[in-house]
Amino acid sequence: QKVELELDAIEKGGYEHFMLKEIFEQPNSIADSMRGRVDRKNNKLTLGGIHEYADHLAEAKRIIIIACGTSWHSGLVAEYLFEEFCRIPVEVEYASEFRYRNPVINEGDVVIAISQSGETADTLAAIELAKSKGAIILGVVNVVGSSISRVSHEGAYLHTGPEIGVASTKAFTGQLSVLTMIVLSTAARKKTITDSKLKDLLSGLENIPEKIKKVLRKNDEIEKISEKFKDAKNFLYLGRGYNFPVALEGALKLKEISYIHAEGYPAAEMKHGPIALIDEEMPVVVIATRDSSYDKIVSNIQEVKARKGVVIAIVTEGDVLIPNMADYVIEVPQCDEALMPLISVIPLQLLSYHIAIMRGCNVDQPRNLAKSVTVE
Ligand code: G6P
Repeated sequence: QKVELELDAIEKGGYEHFMLKEIFEQPNSIADSMRGRVDRKNNKLTLGGIHEYADHLAEAKRIIIIACGTSWHSGLVAEYLFEEFCRIPVEVEYASEFRYRNPVINEGDVVIAISQSGETADTLAAIELAKSKGAIILGVVNVVGSSISRVSHEGAYLHTGPEIGVASTKAFTGQLSVLTMIVLSTAARKKTITDSKLKDLLSGLENIPEKIKKVLRKNDEIEKISEKFKDAKNFLYLGRGYNFPVALEGALKLKEISYIHAEGYPAAEMKHGPIALIDEEMPVVVIATRDSSYDKIVSNIQEVKARKGVVIAIVTEGDVLIPNMADYVIEVPQCDEALMPLISVIPLQLLSYHIAIMRGCNVDQPRNLAKSVTVE
């Protein structure tokens, strides 16, 4: 038994749980996802796995993204990226819904399937359906040799290494990194991005691991904030633009491992419902980094404060406005807004981890959840 315990400790690399280990691995796992792919010197991206169909993707009339759970959230970020940089319309679909309606798939549509495990039953079935209607399937998968990687025409692996914790962390950021690279190489091919913007984003991508390290250094600070909220019954997460999918992901992390009810919303939709829930008992996590919707999100924070909600804001380093309004702030480094989800999700992962631990929950194997859902 002693040997087993020691083996377990070695596997966790000195961390208490796999989830924490995987959160802290992100500077390395993201660097791994970019290795050999980002060529800053020549302002180029090389994705060996998407070769034969690279032109097909660049000429796609429409992209349909199919995924479940956390992978669906990274699909939402990819939608914003593809539309902004490639000007290709994108639909992001829950695999389970897509497979059971009679979806319209036209010639020239490309399907991107995102899955950490590569084994999710609904995603696999949705791919088979799209394939039978003639769509080209590109897989964005972590597990090498998995079913989805085999049924896809081409694809790109995350190369982030095995993820053991049921709640996805490093696979999410790995997906964001790979999807961003697919978008940028497609944009370069289509010439819908300028050389200088591409250059900025490639160097931005390369700097992400260092910036994540900076956020991870705030772990103790985030643990202290978590202490204040461990007994909350409900949480609301708000974000706009690229940070909207991050709000969804933050809420999902919290409910998965701490069993606290949490909802993610696009901040402007708050007035169409969730605002009715806000009172002094309601913590609201607002992702309010400095970007094109900054002024709007500041107004949303004021709306929450006017109703006595408790605000935990994720802000850009050096922000002087929001710290005067929010109850708690967590600073993250500045970066291009298109890359911000890679950074802004980190404090939310840590927040949910600490709250779950304080509530005595099993963070690596939460009740009722499975790492890979191979049945319907
Ligand atoms: C399960 C896991 C989630 C994951 C989802 C999709 O619900 O618990 O963490 O996001 O399946 O899994 P996939 O392997 O397809 O990304």
